[in-house]
Amino acid sequence: MSNFDWSKLPFGYQKADYNVRCYFRDGNWGELEISSSEYINMHISATALHYGQQAFEGMKAYRGKDGKIRLFRWEENFKRMERSAHGIMMAPITKDIFKEAITKAVLMNERYVPPHGTGAALYIRPLLIGSGAEIGVKPAKEFLFMVFVTPVGPYFKEGFNPVKIAIVRDSDRAAPLGTGNIKVGGNYASSLTGIIKAQQAGYSSPMYLDSVHKKYIDEIGAANFFGIKNNTYVTPKSSSILSSITNMSIMQLAEDIGLTVERRQVEIDELDTFDEVGACGTAAIISPIGEVYDIDENKKYEFCKDGKVGPISTKIYNKLVDIQYGDEPDFHNWIEIIN
Ligand code: PLP
Ligand code: COI
Repeated sequence: MSNFDWSKLPFGYQKADYNVRCYFRDGNWGELEISSSEYINMHISATALHYGQQAFEGMKAYRGKDGKIRLFRWEENFKRMERSAHGIMMAPITKDIFKEAITKAVLMNERYVPPHGTGAALYIRPLLIGSGAEIGVKPAKEFLFMVFVTPVGPYFKEGFNPVKIAIVRDSDRAAPLGTGNIKVGGNYASSLTGIIKAQQAGYSSPMYLDSVHKKYIDEIGAANFFGIKNNTYVTPKSSSILSSITNMSIMQLAEDIGLTVERRQVEIDELDTFDEVGACGTAAIISPIGEVYDIDENKKYEFCKDGKVGPISTKIYNKLVDIQYGDEPDFHNWIEIIN
């Protein structure tokens, strides 16, 4: 792939060579099919199009110094996709099909796995949709599972540099007993007005508060929130946020370096007391936050005042990416080499 400037890749869609598909019909999953088309043929009354039966995952394949390709905690993505399928009444994919599909999708597009040291990775997007036709509001009887890949750089153009976040109160991404804790398209549709509002105000991403009290921090765009103070890593506990595999891993790494980990409600007013705050997720990795602006209260919370990322966020970021790219021993058995 000599025509790629890997180190300047944005987080965007880039065509690869192949994708993988599998259909659920008559109560069973069929054989994996390989396609070189970026399009699918769908019934106009498919439940995915009308009633939001759609769930997806986001994961990455990383190339090590040794040239080998690594997957990071793929079983956690499988488990989450299973929960998402149950949450909106879709047939869950089996673990074997999930593994075979992601592995095939990566290996068949191996030339798009960015070289080690460029900071880029191959983003893997498993997608499960209701493909069966219904017109009454009910679950489909047929489903389509697909996996496509695309090489990506950092989610935020800032990379591992402070980003600016805006608190948005006039739209909710999710409700406490809704679908915020699973990875379904509807959550992203309801996050769009907040994302655009934050961006139009000059901020990278919105911060969502709990939708009942508008008092506690939920999450940040497509990433979880964390704050660090008094040798403690604090991250919100809420029934409406997505359980981030990156955050789960960072909590472990924080403990490994001697921090106490607290998962609890975090009031917005507590923002003032943190030494470091950040957003984390597969796409965002760890994005340090330099400013949180409360649009309605016209109040600014500032961090990284000297322009530098905090020492603990830096240490945890380095540990995480070094494990993902195979530069540090994988003590927790998070990595699977697939070639
Ligand atoms: N929260 C939301 C809403 C997301 O879309 C994502 C991305 O997947 C995350 C958090 C981070 O989750 P993970 O670390 O598993 O990618
Ligand atoms: C991820 O972090 O993998 C995500 O899914 C973010 C995405 C919605 C762009």
